[in-house]
Amino acid sequence: MTIEDNIQHLLDKREEAKMGGGEKRIESQHKKGKFTARERIDMLLDEGSFEEFDMFVTHHSTDFGLEKQKFFTDGVITGHGTIDGRVVYVFSQDFTIIGGSLSETYARKICKVMDQALKVGAPIIGINDSGGARIQEGVKSLAGYAEIFQRNIMASGVIPQISAVFGPCAGGAVYSPALTDFIFMSKENSYMFVTGPKVTKTVTGEDITTDDLGGPDVHGKKSGVAHFIAEDEEEGILLIRKLLTFLPQNNLEEPPITECNDPIDRKEDLLNDIIPSNPNQPYNISDVIYSIVDNSEFLQVQRHYAKNIITGFAKFNGMPVGIVANQPDFLAGVLDINASRKAARFVRFCDAFNLPVVTLVDVPGFLPGSAQEYAGIIIHGAKLLFAYGEATVPKVTITLRKSYGGAHDVMGSKQLRGDINYAWPSAEIAVMGPAGAIEVLNGKEIHAIENDVERKKFITQKENEYRDKFANPYEAASYGYIDDVIEPRNTRFRIIRALQALATKKDTNPPKKHSNIPL
Ligand code: HXC
Repeated sequence: MTIEDNIQHLLDKREEAKMGGGEKRIESQHKKGKFTARERIDMLLDEGSFEEFDMFVTHHSTDFGLEKQKFFTDGVITGHGTIDGRVVYVFSQDFTIIGGSLSETYARKICKVMDQALKVGAPIIGINDSGGARIQEGVKSLAGYAEIFQRNIMASGVIPQISAVFGPCAGGAVYSPALTDFIFMSKENSYMFVTGPKVTKTVTGEDITTDDLGGPDVHGKKSGVAHFIAEDEEEGILLIRKLLTFLPQNNLEEPPITECNDPIDRKEDLLNDIIPSNPNQPYNISDVIYSIVDNSEFLQVQRHYAKNIITGFAKFNGMPVGIVANQPDFLAGVLDINASRKAARFVRFCDAFNLPVVTLVDVPGFLPGSAQEYAGIIIHGAKLLFAYGEATVPKVTITLRKSYGGAHDVMGSKQLRGDINYAWPSAEIAVMGPAGAIEVLNGKEIHAIENDVERKKFITQKENEYRDKFANPYEAASYGYIDDVIEPRNTRFRIIRALQALATKKDTNPPKKHSNIPL
């Protein structure tokens, strides 16, 4: 063969590999409204930056006639490229090749990019669209999954791990995305479940559709498994690119600081009037968040799940931070099991990747009741407490209004190593709200008053006394638990100043194998 022939041979092989499972299957993928594995990579990475590994890998199985179903890549496209000029490693499952099912060699390809991402210290992004374990390969496929899981675990907290689910993701296969930091699902065609509808019906008798069992609505709103629900694959990919703008490449790097064209001393007069005069009236904490962060840009995580707490990424003077905020507009911003779990995982992510945590507090307490107690609010609430207390990144906490009871301690308080704790003049920091406190302290006297009008008068008088004492930030400030009481409209500037001061913060935890967070 001449050199030209050799090169042509290579180009032909490349062309064959690029056709995946063939034209018909690509067509069928498109008909379902899905992009192919390669198209997804092209959309995700900077143009022309993709370097593919293992294009010519094939499986070597002969059981069940598999030797007749050999395709280059073996059903997963792997390699590296850049996003906004920064290196990322990727794998993208190709449903057109044997349903994107995972074989021994396929798993080895994924492990190769995971290993290299870890060595290089670059994020790994996996795009899932697969029928799961390649049934014909049996235990070899199961072992392949376990190899991936082990790497997910080792990479956890070292490099950002991101999963997109743009098709089926079923059985044990769900556990790789579950071990990663963020799961993105597209509204069309995506689902995740440990056991599908057919087996569910056989085992439990429950009749349920794929979508109702594990569609994006389920995981975005009910289970909280998915962190981002995108309208479609294109939006999902844009969101992944957006997310990376807030993250460092690995746990040893600082998050990327960008130039900020939003004045750092921008005053927001509306904040001086945002707290309603009636303490039981809600307001939307998002209005506060959007008004204080750079250019009103805020990327919410788990937007539709546990809406009583808001978590997400934003920048202050170009510095990426994680924001945690109670949402008075939903269940009065109470801390319940789901909100505690959601925020705890978020705070731990921020801590692992050197993102300061800015906490906005307006919390009436933990949600009372048997449903929460039976489901373990004690343990789940402790997760959030643990996450804040363990975190060594800069922690800036602003108390806007209520900060009651255990929830006060949990939400980035001074004693959980909060670095800078400010309060608005409207802050109420106490063991509990006035009504509950008066019932406990003056219950006997209250119930001894027979006349309704007299009783109400007495309650109001006692509540006012309590409010004067505790429903303000000055009692806490007098002990130094609050570093300063600030004018709401200056909040952006005060947070930026705090973050600037804390930029070189060093804090450590005692040496240990690992903590024993209440799981
Ligand atoms: C081998 C598979 C496959 C699999 C799909 N295919 N899944 N081949 N192993 N797991 C093949 C099909 O035979 C078919 O081949 C092609 O891929 C496309 O699949 P279709 O069924 O035609 O596609 P569609 O109608 O879109 O249905 C998609 C699907 C279905 C819902 C995902 O394929 C399906 O139910 N697959 C099996 C899912 C499953 O139970 N997997 C095991 C989960 S347990 P041809 O040649 O006909 O085109 C698991 C354990 C992991 O994964 C454990 C880790 C610890």
